[in-house]
Amino acid sequence: MRGIVLAGGTATRLYPATLGVSKQLLPIYNKPMVYYPISLLMLAGIREILIISTPHDLPGFERLLGTGEQLGVRFSYAAQPKPGGLAEAFIVGKDFIGSDSVCLVLGDNIVHGANLAKLLQDAAHQREGCTLFGYRVTDPQRYGVAELDANNTILSIEEKPKAPKSNLAVIGLYFYDNSVVEIASTIPRSARGELEITDVNNVYVQRGTARMQVFSRGYAWLDTGTHDSFLDAANFVQVIERRTGELIASLEEIAFRMKYITAAQLAERGEAMKQTDYGQYLLAVARGDA
Ligand code: TTP
Repeated sequence: MRGIVLAGGTATRLYPATLGVSKQLLPIYNKPMVYYPISLLMLAGIREILIISTPHDLPGFERLLGTGEQLGVRFSYAAQPKPGGLAEAFIVGKDFIGSDSVCLVLGDNIVHGANLAKLLQDAAHQREGCTLFGYRVTDPQRYGVAELDANNTILSIEEKPKAPKSNLAVIGLYFYDNSVVEIASTIPRSARGELEITDVNNVYVQRGTARMQVFSRGYAWLDTGTHDSFLDAANFVQVIERRTGELIASLEEIAFRMKYITAAQLAERGEAMKQTDYGQYLLAVARGDA
C-alpha cells in the first residue's frame, strides 16, 4: 500500500497566519503539523509516501522531509496547481499509486489513542473496497456523515446534512483499493468546481464495499483549521506529552519502533536536536530509557 498526504489548500480560515506559509508547516506544539498525518501512514506500515502541496509550498516540505532516508521511508513530491478538491489527490498521484492500494490522509488531521497502529494496519490489510474512519461528534451538520448497518458497512454518506442520520463524521483518513484511481477520474466536478471525496466514497457505498472503523471513546481526533482549534490542538499535544512523558507523532521515534531505522540512526537524529526536549527524548528512546 502507498500513502498520500494532501497538504495543499489555501487555509483561509487561518489568515493572516497562513498568508506567507503553508499551514501544514506551522508547528502544533513542538513539531510541524504535517508530522501528525505522516505518523498515521508510518504506523499503518506504509513506507512509500507522496506529499502533495501547492507549487509554491512544495519546496518547504522538501526542505523539511527530504528523501525520507533518515526515517527509513521514501518521500516523493507532487504539486496540485489549484485546490480542486480532495479527490484530485488520485489524479495528481496516479503514477505514484500505479497498481497498488492507497491511503489518503489530509495534512491537517491529528488522531491520537491507544492501539492506533493496530487499527491502521488492519485497514491497510483489507484487499477490496475502502475503509473510512468515523468519529462521533456533537455537530455532525459540519461534516460528511455516515449511516451504518449492523456490520459497519456504510449505507450512505451525506455531506453537511441538515438532518444528519447519525453523529458519525467521516474523518480525513481513507484507505482504498486501486479502483479509486479510476473512480476519481470518472466522477464529475461538484457545483463548487471540486472533485469531492464524498462522491468517490459514495461509489464504494453503492458497490457495498465501503466499511467504517469507528473510533471508540478515548480516541482524540483534532481539527486544526481555525485559530482556536489550532491552539487547542497544540495545548492538547503539550498536556498529553508532558503528562505521559511520551511524544505524539514523533516520526523519528515511530521509524525506530517500526524498525525502519536503528538505535544508532535514532541517536544521530536526537544529537542533531539535543538542545530541545524533543531531541533529548529521542536520545532516551535510542538508549532504551523511554
Ligand atoms: P480544507 O480545510 O477543506 O481547506 P484549507 O486547508 O485550504 O482551509 P480553509 O478552509 O481555511 O481555506 O482542507 C483540508 C485539507 O486538505 C488541508 O490539509 C488542505 C488540503 N487540501 C488540499 O491539499 N487540496 C485541496 O484541493 C483541498 C480542498 C484541500
